[in-house]
Amino acid sequence: MAAAADWWRTGVVYQIYPRSFADSNGDGVGDLAGIVAHLDHLGGASESLGVDAIWLSPIYPSPDFDFGYDVADYTGVDPRFGTLADFERLVAACHARGIKVILDLVLNHSSHRHPWFRASRTGRDGPFADWYIWRDSPGQTPTARRRRPNNWRGFFGGPAWTWDETRGQFYLHTFLPQQPDLNWRNPAVRAAIKDVVRTWLARGVDGFRLDVFNTFFKDAALRSNPVRPGAGGGWGSQVHLFDRNRPELVGALAELRAVVDERPGRMTVGELFDGTAAEAASYAAPGHLIFDFALLGLPWSAAAFAEAIRKRDASFGPEVWPTNVLSNHDQPRHAGRYDDPGADASVGDARAKIAAAFLLTQRGTPFLYYGEEIALRALAIPNSEAFDPQARRSSADAPAWNRDQARGPMPWQSGRDGGFTNGQPWLPLPPDLEFRNVARQARDPESVLSLYRQLLRVRRESQALQRGSQEAANVGDADVLAYRRRDADRSVFVALNFASRPAAIRLPEPARGGPWRISLTTHRRKPGDLLAEPVILAPLEALIAYD
Ligand code: GLC
Repeated sequence: MAAAADWWRTGVVYQIYPRSFADSNGDGVGDLAGIVAHLDHLGGASESLGVDAIWLSPIYPSPDFDFGYDVADYTGVDPRFGTLADFERLVAACHARGIKVILDLVLNHSSHRHPWFRASRTGRDGPFADWYIWRDSPGQTPTARRRRPNNWRGFFGGPAWTWDETRGQFYLHTFLPQQPDLNWRNPAVRAAIKDVVRTWLARGVDGFRLDVFNTFFKDAALRSNPVRPGAGGGWGSQVHLFDRNRPELVGALAELRAVVDERPGRMTVGELFDGTAAEAASYAAPGHLIFDFALLGLPWSAAAFAEAIRKRDASFGPEVWPTNVLSNHDQPRHAGRYDDPGADASVGDARAKIAAAFLLTQRGTPFLYYGEEIALRALAIPNSEAFDPQARRSSADAPAWNRDQARGPMPWQSGRDGGFTNGQPWLPLPPDLEFRNVARQARDPESVLSLYRQLLRVRRESQALQRGSQEAANVGDADVLAYRRRDADRSVFVALNFASRPAAIRLPEPARGGPWRISLTTHRRKPGDLLAEPVILAPLEALIAYD
């Protein structure tokens, strides 16, 4: 079936962290051929999840100071992941299954090993001299240290400026010193970026995630940020007025999007870095989504979820299309976040099912993170053993968690190394591998994986879920999150019991005169059955009904 032109709105996107999805050559690191070998899991087969697109975290050559988010060649493929021919095979195999391919574009900064930066640091003249943000030191401190151009901090701790001996100037880096920020004010930089986008579009790519897009422009005068008194010395110690969200971004973003729009049916999703829902709404456009992360970090509470949605709806209004994300490669996995420390993992799994029902029935485009469909939890890896630069640089001033914990190998089956690799996996497999793996959950109709499959099917069959409007429903129990989705001829009612006790709920008036029928529940009732009051939800039951 041909995908809708607005698949970016109706579809479900699945994020793959390529290092950790599947290793085909035994080096312990996942690769593109490994992804191709596991496409049945994602789409095109009867037992697939049925996702519409995959987003690959960066696959470009990188020295991995920030695991691919420091790019040394924007149009190449890192040999550890494969070759360009492997990439083309991946795109063809995905397209044959009706799966779109989204790449991660890291355009705020490159690697310090990128040829552009190598050339730029050689001196103040030459074609690349102005491709990064270089500044003289404004003088020396009384203790004979060079003053920095302003007070900006790096997100991973330390100042955002590093002195370069070769060029005799400071350069700016919002993240690591090995991730120098590109100078978006230079038209030659913007032209080179557009060439990168066109190259990947010509290779069949359907969309791009724009890494930290709202940091592309900095204040023209590089004014210092206001300081928050008493907030330490890290990123959070400043109000980030001048190092992101600059007005020039809007025009540059439009230029970049116009290149993407040269080919119909292509999209972008911008990662709003450290921003609010109102900022997210202001940057969204048809075909161009924004991650606002309003839902990340919520406690396990129906009221907290309801309030987050209410606030976001107030910013987004009925026109702007949101994205829904509970986990990604930068955040602790949500099944672990929602675990009840006093209960066993079955309670956490039941909560993960509720979360899945939420994610796949909320208004907006859902983004799933590999492994969440089997409710993977965090790996226990202390900061002292981290690969993640954020954790390695963690300090009292800029405390940080270890993102490796959310980036572990996918457990495909039981047995040594979970079918992920024949070699030594770069990160350990989870300790509950024997029962928490894809093959085992695929056989179990009650598993989290089976529920994801059913939810994706229900969503695929419902225009109201894919495109409809949304309104909160008051069912009379604050522990039940309930809402209604509506399109021209159907409405869908969703009730999620966040509590580990039964909950009696009131049904809303059916839009078409009723009655409500069950579309899916995580408990006993059968699809197609009529719903009549009183409806008692079981503990941690998710119920989806239609009229
Ligand atoms: C984004 C990425 C993150 C990376 C950072 C710097 O936030 O998601 O993984 O470390 O940008 O590129």
